[in-house]
Amino acid sequence: MSEALANLLNETRQFPPPAELAANANVTAAAYDEAAGDRLAFWERQAGRLAWAQPWEQVLDWSNAPFAKWFTGGRLNVAYNCVDRHVEAGHGDKVAIHWEGEPGDTRTVTYADLHRLTCQAANALTELGVTAGDRVAIYLPMIPEAAVAMLACARIGATHSVVFGGFSADALTNRIQDASAKVVITADGGFRRGKPSALKPTVDEAVANCPSVEHVLVVRRTGEEVGWSAKDHWWHDAVENASPEHEAQPFDAEHPLFILYTSGTTARPKGILHTTGGYLTQASYTTHAVFDLKPETDVYWCTADIGWVTGHSYIVYGPLSNGATQVMYEGTPDTPHKGRFWEIVDKYRVTILYTAPTLIRTMMKWGEDVPAGYDLSSLRLLGSVGEPINPEAWIWYRQYVGRGELPVVDTWWQTETGAMMISPLPGVTEAKPGSAMAPLPGVVADVVDDQGESVPNGGGGYLVLTEPWPSMLRTVWGDDNRFLETYWSRFGAGANTGDKWVYFAGDGAKKDDDGHIWLLGRVDDVMLVSGHNISTTEVESALVSHPSVAEAAVVGATDPTTGQAIVAFAIPRGSAETGGDAGEQLIAELRNHVARTLGPIAKPRQIMLVPELPKTRSGKIMRRLLRDVAENRSLGDVTTLQDSSVMELISSGMSSGK
Ligand code: WT7
Repeated sequence: MSEALANLLNETRQFPPPAELAANANVTAAAYDEAAGDRLAFWERQAGRLAWAQPWEQVLDWSNAPFAKWFTGGRLNVAYNCVDRHVEAGHGDKVAIHWEGEPGDTRTVTYADLHRLTCQAANALTELGVTAGDRVAIYLPMIPEAAVAMLACARIGATHSVVFGGFSADALTNRIQDASAKVVITADGGFRRGKPSALKPTVDEAVANCPSVEHVLVVRRTGEEVGWSAKDHWWHDAVENASPEHEAQPFDAEHPLFILYTSGTTARPKGILHTTGGYLTQASYTTHAVFDLKPETDVYWCTADIGWVTGHSYIVYGPLSNGATQVMYEGTPDTPHKGRFWEIVDKYRVTILYTAPTLIRTMMKWGEDVPAGYDLSSLRLLGSVGEPINPEAWIWYRQYVGRGELPVVDTWWQTETGAMMISPLPGVTEAKPGSAMAPLPGVVADVVDDQGESVPNGGGGYLVLTEPWPSMLRTVWGDDNRFLETYWSRFGAGANTGDKWVYFAGDGAKKDDDGHIWLLGRVDDVMLVSGHNISTTEVESALVSHPSVAEAAVVGATDPTTGQAIVAFAIPRGSAETGGDAGEQLIAELRNHVARTLGPIAKPRQIMLVPELPKTRSGKIMRRLLRDVAENRSLGDVTTLQDSSVMELISSGMSSGK
C-alpha cells in the first residue's frame, strides 16, 4: 500500500468543471452547506423529489442502531416512481431504453411501453402466486426484460434477487436457497462474444436443488432449444398475454425492495438487503446530482450489467426515477470489433457515459486510435466506478474519450451503500485524477487509523462512514449478526468512538493535504477482479473441493488490466501426479474447476503447486507473504511464521501455470 500511496501523492493535477456545465449544473456548491447545516432536512428535501402515496412521519429512526429506518410511516411504489408518473406527466412517448443487442438487433422502449410491459409482468407474477414479500430470483442477460422483471417485482412488493448471468449453477443455487425464492425469471440465453450463451440449462441444474422454486419464467432471446419442465412458462405466453392494466399499491418505506449477494471473507455470500424509500431517494438524487442528468436532453449510458449493484442503481432505479433516456447494451465491448462502445456512443448520441476502470484500461491497451475513429462529440460527462482508477487511466479517459475537456466523476460506493457516497460534483469540484474527492452532500465519511481515530490530512488508514445514509443496507438477509460483525464492530460503538456507530467499508484510504479522499483498495481478503468482488476464501474452497488438492491459499495480485488477478497456491494431495506434464495438466484442470464451480470470472490467472503454505502459529495463512511471491517482490517480515523455512520451499519448489 505504501507504494500506491507514494505514487498517488505525486499526482497534483486538478481539473475545474467546464464553465458552461458549472453555470447550468443541477446541483451547486450550496448543496454542501445545506446538508452540513441540517443533514436530515437535506435528505427530506431529496425524498420530496419522489412521489409518495403517504408522507413520512420521521426522517430517520436510529433508535435501534445500526438497524436504520428512513422515512418511517411513508408509503410509495418504486415502479410508479420509475414509470407511471412519467407517463402521467405526458412523457409516454419518450424513449426510456434504446436497447442494442450484441448481434446488432435493436429495440426502442418508450415509457408507455415500459409501463405496459411492467404491468403485464406484474399481473403474470401475481397469476403465478407471487405476493408482496415473496422473493423472486432474476437470472437474465442484458435485455429490456431484465429491467421489466425488476420493476414488476417492485410494483407488487416482491423482493428481487438478481444473480449475474455469468455465475455458475452452484452460485445460483446458493443464492436461490438463501432467499428461498419462489420464482426464477430467466431466458434461454443471451448473446456474448458473437454467439449464443445459454442460461436455461444452468437454471435447470439449480432449480433441481431448490425446492422453494415453484415456477420458472423463460424469456426467448436466442431461440436455441431448451429443456422444459412442468414448472417452466414462456415469458411471451405468460407476460405478453397478461392484462396491461395494473394499479400499483404503495408499500412501506422500509419494505424490502431487493437482495443482492456480495462476496465476503467467508465462502458464504452475504445477501445485502435494500429497502424502498431511502434507497430510491439516494439512487435518484445521486443520478441527478453526480451525472447532472437533464432528462429532456441527455442520453445516458451505464455499461454495467444489471447483475451488479451498479446496474440496479444506475441502469434501473436512478435513471428511470429521473425519467432519463438511456442506452442498454447486451454484449461485450469487442464484439464484433474493438470500437463497439464508441460506435454505440456515436449512434445514439450518448451524452453521459458511466463505466469501469478495468474497461478504460482495456481501451487504453487497444489504443486511442479506436475511439478516434468515431464521433464522440455528443459526450458531456464521464463517470467511473468499481475500483480505484489510476491517474493514467483517468487522464486517458478524459483525453481520448472526453476530448481533453469533459469532467470525469470517480464515484466511490458499494453494494452495501446502495448508491454513490464519495464523488466529485461535476459542476462544482476541481477533480484530481485518481481521487474520489469528497463525500457527497448528506454523506459523512472519514479515514481512521487502527484505533478508529481520525487521521490528519496527509495520513492513511481505513475508510469509514460516520453517519447513517438513506440507501444504506438494512441488514444481511437472514443474518443480523453477520451484519453487525462485518460492518459495525471493527470500530464499534463504545470502542474509540464514544457511543457513535461507525460503518467499516473494508477499503483502505488516504487523505491528501487538502483533505481529499483517495481510495486504495480492499483491506480484507476480498479481491477486486475487473471490478467484481471475489473472496479469497470462496476460491480456496473451490480448489479444495477438487480431489487432487489438499490445501489452498489465494491472493489478489496487482494486474495491469483487471486491477487484481487471482493467484492461487495449492498443495497437491499425496496421491496426485505432479511431475512434468502432469503438473501442468493438473494446473489447467484446477483453473477450469474453479471456473466451473464459481463462474468464469473467478478463474485464477495463475496456480502454483507448492509443498507447504506459510502459516502463523495460530494456523492463519499469511497471505501477505504469498502476495509478495505473486507480485515477484522480496519477502517481507517472516518472523511470525510457524516455520520460516516454508517460504524457501515455496519459492524454490513451485511449478506455475499461466
Ligand atoms: C468495492 C465495492 C459500487 C459499485 C461497484 C462495486 C471498490 C468501487 C470505487 C471507486 C475506488 C472503488 C471498493 C468498494 N470501489 N468504486 N470509485 N474508487 N474503489 O460494488 O462489488 O460492492 O464493490 O469496490 O473497494 O469497497 P461492490
